Amino acid sequence: MFTALAFVAIGLLVSAVVAAYFIFATFAFGAGYQPTPKIVAEAMLRYAEVGPRDVVFDLGAGTGAIVFRAARVYRAKVVGAEVEPIRVLILRLRRRFGPAGDRITIRWGNLFDLDFREATVVTAFLWPGAMARLREKFESELAPGVRVVSYYHPIPGWTPVRSDSDLLVYLYRWPEARTAPGATRGTTGGS
Ligand SMILES: C[S@@+](CC[C@H](N)C(=O)[O-])C[C@H]1O[C@@H](n2cnc3c(N)ncnc32)[C@H](O)[C@@H]1O
Repeated sequence: MFTALAFVAIGLLVSAVVAAYFIFATFAFGAGYQPTPKIVAEAMLRYAEVGPRDVVFDLGAGTGAIVFRAARVYRAKVVGAEVEPIRVLILRLRRRFGPAGDRITIRWGNLFDLDFREATVVTAFLWPGAMARLREKFESELAPGVRVVSYYHPIPGWTPVRSDSDLLVYLYRWPEARTAPGATRGTTGGS
């Protein structure tokens, strides 16, 4: 009886440690884990008018809410950058055993080490500090015309061409984002 209880207790403890690691381990890098809701992922890709000629970089790919939708529904080439190894394993398994694997690249590592020059669309759901650091990197690496879509936290100092105050989605165009054109705020639909 005691042995069975001990096994259950150890099992629960190990599960709790793994779950805590999965969620909290990447706090220091720029965000913990929280998947982008499906309705938001859909809006982000639609607002950015993602299509087969795009190369979408999802910065902090999680378990792939944006990555797989962009490649499979919108037929874009996608690069998903993720630092946390369990999520990288999940991403690679999903890529390996699902459709459109040839359009998906999973990069294991710190997204701040990635070269963004190939991107035509960038998506990000990260914390405010990471968004601020990203802004500097965007300004030195993004090609003109790139669309950047963020969820929940805007890019400080940039002006969106479109923002959705219900879904908390912000769409920017580089380099116009820096020069503050009139933004369309509070939209909830359309593309
Ligand atoms: C809020 S989740 C977003 C997940 C994903 N974009 C989605 O749509 O579901 C943020 C993800 O970014 C990852 N992350 C945070 N900082 C990172 C960094 N510096 N480099 C790579 N990945 C990072 C976290 O591990 C986490 O999976």
